[in-house]
Amino acid sequence: MRSSFAIRRALLSSARATRITAAAPSHAARFYSAKSQATKLKDLDASKLSITKATKPKPLSKPEDLVFGKMFTDHMLAIEWDATEGWREPRITPYQNLSLDPATCVFHYAFECFEGMKAYKDKDGKVRLFRPEKNMDRFNKSSARIALPTFNSEALIELISKFAQLESRFIPDQKGYSLYLRPTMIGTQKTLGVGTPQSAMLFVIASPVGPYYPTGFKAVSLEATDYAVRAWPGGVGDKKLGANYAPCIVPQQQAASRGFQQNLWLFGEEEYVTEVGTMNMFAAIKDKKTGQKELVTAPLDGTILEGVTRDSVLQLARERLVPEGWKISERKYTMFELAEASKEGRLIEAFGAGTAAIVSPIRAISWKGDLVDCGLKANEESGEIALRMKDWIEGIQYGEEPHKWSYVTPE
Ligand SMILES: Cc1ncc(COP(=O)(O)O)c(C=O)c1O
Repeated sequence: MRSSFAIRRALLSSARATRITAAAPSHAARFYSAKSQATKLKDLDASKLSITKATKPKPLSKPEDLVFGKMFTDHMLAIEWDATEGWREPRITPYQNLSLDPATCVFHYAFECFEGMKAYKDKDGKVRLFRPEKNMDRFNKSSARIALPTFNSEALIELISKFAQLESRFIPDQKGYSLYLRPTMIGTQKTLGVGTPQSAMLFVIASPVGPYYPTGFKAVSLEATDYAVRAWPGGVGDKKLGANYAPCIVPQQQAASRGFQQNLWLFGEEEYVTEVGTMNMFAAIKDKKTGQKELVTAPLDGTILEGVTRDSVLQLARERLVPEGWKISERKYTMFELAEASKEGRLIEAFGAGTAAIVSPIRAISWKGDLVDCGLKANEESGEIALRMKDWIEGIQYGEEPHKWSYVTPE
């Protein structure tokens, strides 16, 4: 197998030989982007994809042995970008190490952003993605925010679809299993100067994963965290930057040392509830005066990641729960409000929402020395809304319910 450096060099020289034939169409917003003035740069072109197949396909693991993010498929998708020519030809190659100079800007100034999405196999063996355009929009926004290039979202969906098709043997055909896809963008310029990266690489790797709760839901307990802040107004907590994640590990370890699985990230003196671990947070509360049932989540004010699952839960709730009398709110709410509702028996349930688990029911939240009960009975692991949301979303992801959110990848 050729070294990754040789592959990279070949990729660059073959790309140099290609003439620019058309102006790149403008797609995503390019506000912060390195590409903002470069209208003549080549955009991502899925038709230029080349595929070099692995000569030694990996053995498949038993589905029940899959551990999240530990085992990877045979191939990877990679596309180089540079500020003079734009996006080079996409390549699917055998999965391999990257070879980067120690001075590469990603290592020093965290020019890195990523996405998390999944490919599902339906009962007819078709490979499906779930709302991939939402991941592409978010990926472009993250990338633009750290001066990395943006790209044509449709072209990347087409490339990811081809990649997922090529790796489809890794997707177990049982419900709950999927192929986790990790699109990643890094600045690759060799420089210690702090500035706009003049070269970048977008790559996608894939890891087969099993159900988050193989033996059924297991409700988690949280530690409300006020001494460390995940995101703040004007910051980048609403972008999926790698730099947002490493600083959350120590608070998570501390919560774990006290017996809590996740942090509930609070913000400000008001102690607004923002997110739970790496999930968006939902609470179902009964109004103090009217008894009206409300499903509430924090608004997208720049301190919350714009979760694809969050948006799906909100849309389904507006469509299916409002007719049952529910009120659906994106509004600020505080830990005090949750604790008060809990004390008064008005906190119906609470759950996190994200691609990994779809929903993660919450049993209790530790706050100011008290344990705020989130409404589950001792023998219950999930509330009704979380359970219904999981069934609805999973049904769409696996093609059981025909829905525009499910994208069947072409064979
Ligand atoms: C901080 C954070 N919040 C929320 C989410 C949920 O987002 P999604 O539903 O798109 O997976 C994630 C996971 O990507 C996350 O990392």
